Amino acid sequence: MTSSLPESVDQVPIRRLAFLVTVVAFVTVGHYTIGLHQAAWHDVFRRLYYVPIIFGASWFGLRGGLVTAGIVAGLFVPHVLLQWREMPLEQPEQYLEILIYLVVAGVTGALSEKEASRRKELRLANEKVEEGYQRLREQSVALVRADEQLRRADRLAALGELSASMAHEIRNPLGSIKGTAEIFRDSLPAGHRLAEFARILVKEADRLDRILTHFLGFARPKDVVSSRTELAPAVAQVVGLTRERARSAGVAITVELSPEVPPVAIPSDALGQVLLNLVLNAIQALGPGGRVSISGAIAPARRLACRESPVQLQVVHLAVADDGPGIPHDIRERVFDPFFTTRRGGTGLGLAICQRIVLGYRGAIAVVAAAPQGARFEMELPVADGGSGA
Ligand SMILES: Nc1ncnc2c1ncn2[C@@H]1O[C@H](COP(=O)(O)OP(=O)(O)OP(=O)(O)O)[C@@H](O)[C@H]1O
Ligand SMILES: [Mg+2]
Repeated sequence: MTSSLPESVDQVPIRRLAFLVTVVAFVTVGHYTIGLHQAAWHDVFRRLYYVPIIFGASWFGLRGGLVTAGIVAGLFVPHVLLQWREMPLEQPEQYLEILIYLVVAGVTGALSEKEASRRKELRLANEKVEEGYQRLREQSVALVRADEQLRRADRLAALGELSASMAHEIRNPLGSIKGTAEIFRDSLPAGHRLAEFARILVKEADRLDRILTHFLGFARPKDVVSSRTELAPAVAQVVGLTRERARSAGVAITVELSPEVPPVAIPSDALGQVLLNLVLNAIQALGPGGRVSISGAIAPARRLACRESPVQLQVVHLAVADDGPGIPHDIRERVFDPFFTTRRGGTGLGLAICQRIVLGYRGAIAVVAAAPQGARFEMELPVADGGSGA
C-alpha cells in the first residue's frame, strides 16, 4: 500500500505536512471559538476542513486522505457533541458531514493513487524508450564506424589494384627511359659536362623503379628484413632532392640530427620515400619565408611491460616539422587515410604510403600539434640490430 502512495513518507516535504497541520489547526480553533449564533461562520469552517482533506489525499494517497479525514473527524466530533448538544435537529447533519469527509478523502486518495501509478508507468515506459534510443544510438555509431572501416579496407584494396596496374604501366616506359639514359651516359666521353646529368637520369630512373616496387608491396604485409640505414646520408639525400623545390618556394630546410643517433632498421629507399613525402608536404603547405626542420635523436629507452626482467627497446625519434598553417584538429585523424587530400592536385596517397611503410618496419608515425603553429610528423623507428649500443 505504502509503495502505491504518490510519495513515500521520507520524501514528503515537511512544508506539506506543516501546511495541513496549520489549516486543520486554524479551522478547528475557528470552530471552537466562534459562538453558535454565528451559524454561517460555522458552515464556512466546517467546509474549510475539505481543504486539508483534499490536499492530504492528493499528496499522500488514500491512506493520507483517510488519516487526515480521521483527524479532522476526531477534532470535529467533540465540537458537535459539546456545542451542538442544544440543537439536536442540527446534529445528524454534522455527523453526515463527517461521513462526507471520509468519502471525499477516499475518492480523492484513490484517484490520486491511480494517477500516481499511471505516472509511474509512464515514467518507466519513458525510461525504456530512452534506453532503447540510447542503445540504437550506440549501435548506429558502431555501424558508422564499421562502415568507415569497410570503406577504408575497400580503398586499400582498390589502392592495391591501382598500384599494380600503375606499376605495370609505368615500369615499361621507365625501362625505356633508363635504357636510353644509360646509352646516353655511356656514349658521353668522360668529363663531358652532360655526363653528370646522364648519371642523375639513370640514378633517378633506378630510384623510381624501386619506389614502384615498394608501391606494389603497399598492400602486402612486409617481411622485416634486417636493414641498416644511417640517418644522416638518408636525410641529406632527401634535402638534396628537395633543395631546388624549397628554394623556388622560398622555404628553408634545416636538419638537426644528434651525433649519437644509431642506424635504423628500415631500408634507405623506404626511409627516403617517407621523408621525401613529409618534406614535400611541408614545402607545399608553406609560403615564402617558411621553415621545415628535420630532427632525429635516440629516444629514451622504452620500457616494455615485463616486471621481472624489463626489456629495453631503443628507438630513434625522427620528426619533420614546419611552421605553416598546420593541420586542423578535425582532419588530423584522417590525413593518413588513402585518398584523403585537401590539396588541389593532391592524390592523398603520400601519408598513407608513409604510414604503411613505417608500420611495415615496426615503427610508428603520428601527427602532433606543433608549437606555436604548423604541423609536426613524428616517427619512432626501431634501431638496427647492434646499433643501439644498449
Ligand atoms: N605539413 C603539412 N601541413 C599542413 N597540412 C598537411 C601537411 N602534411 C599533410 N597535410 C594534409 O594532409 C593531407 C594528406 O597528405 P598526403 O601527403 O597524404 O596527400 P597530398 O599531399 O594531399 O597528396 P599527394 O598524394 O600528392 O601527397 C594533405 O592534403 C594536407 O591536407
Ligand atoms: Mg603529399
